[in-house]
Amino acid sequence: MNNESPLLQVDQLSFSYGDLRALEGVRFELHPGEVLGLLGPNGAGKTTLVHCCTGRLKPAAGQVRHRQGDPANPAVRRSMGVAPQGGALYDGLSAREQVELFAGLQGLRGREKDAAAREALAFVGLQEKADKRAETLSGGMRQRLNLAMAVVHKPPLLFLDEPTVGVDAQSRNALLDGIEALRRKGHGILYTTHYMPEAERLCDRVGIIDRGRLLELDSVPALLEAHGGDPLVIQETEGREIRHSSADPLLTLDELRRQGAQGRFRVEYPGLEQVFLRCTGHEIQEEA
Ligand SMILES: Nc1ncnc2c1ncn2[C@@H]1O[C@H](COP(=O)(O)OP(=O)(O)OP(=O)(O)O)[C@@H](O)[C@H]1O
Ligand SMILES: [Mg+2]
Repeated sequence: MNNESPLLQVDQLSFSYGDLRALEGVRFELHPGEVLGLLGPNGAGKTTLVHCCTGRLKPAAGQVRHRQGDPANPAVRRSMGVAPQGGALYDGLSAREQVELFAGLQGLRGREKDAAAREALAFVGLQEKADKRAETLSGGMRQRLNLAMAVVHKPPLLFLDEPTVGVDAQSRNALLDGIEALRRKGHGILYTTHYMPEAERLCDRVGIIDRGRLLELDSVPALLEAHGGDPLVIQETEGREIRHSSADPLLTLDELRRQGAQGRFRVEYPGLEQVFLRCTGHEIQEEA
């Protein structure tokens, strides 16, 4: 994270759908060059939070400020890009036309628009598919096209709502590489996921969101330090596992061997699953 002023500031944000309180007292800041992950299960409030941050929903209480001002202001909207959950493609238009349409909506014209669309399609590896109609693309390609439309005008602030759901491992890696490249160029990215390895790999900070509350927000190492618990030394013997929690697994291994413990040993270090479990009291449901 750097010391430049934040691209996005969210303060004490609450939102309800009728009687259902979907967000409660959410606060965070997003800085240039930062990928901030929101990790939470189905229904946690991630998409609602994204909608409040992009000006699509009006908070019941609290504030959302972009560096340029209020996101409800159309001039401010140009400084952000949104890849909505599940995508928003127009069947009947080619991949290139979709991206050009969005570039036009963001104020790009003529050659500048064409070049931006070409660059965005190349960025997501879809240049070969530029003339294919959206409905003929696979689910993963549609997700990549969705990202191309979000980045075509090179906005400093990006909202990516579960951009890798339904994307195969290869395309997922290509997308994550692309997002890392955007970060290196200084874009600030709010990234929602319920997929832990992705959050661990990509995010500078991860927010644990559950039932509308942002319970923790920190770097993965800091979350692991605070909530991960000790590593486990696991002893497999006679078809069963004995688990020894240990702050110093090498020492524990030594001691077990000295005591003549039999079997195979392995060490498991805590990951975000343990953090999530300890913060929320339940497991996150991961996609298959
Ligand atoms: N348009 C709506 N009307 C009423 N309730 C809604 C609406 N959209 C979402 N909700 C409810 O608000 C809560 C938060 O939903 P939201 O879509 O923000 O969760 P999410 O974290 O994005 O979940 P997912 O991982 O499934 O995308 C859920 O209880 C959901 O049922
Ligand atoms: Mg969602």
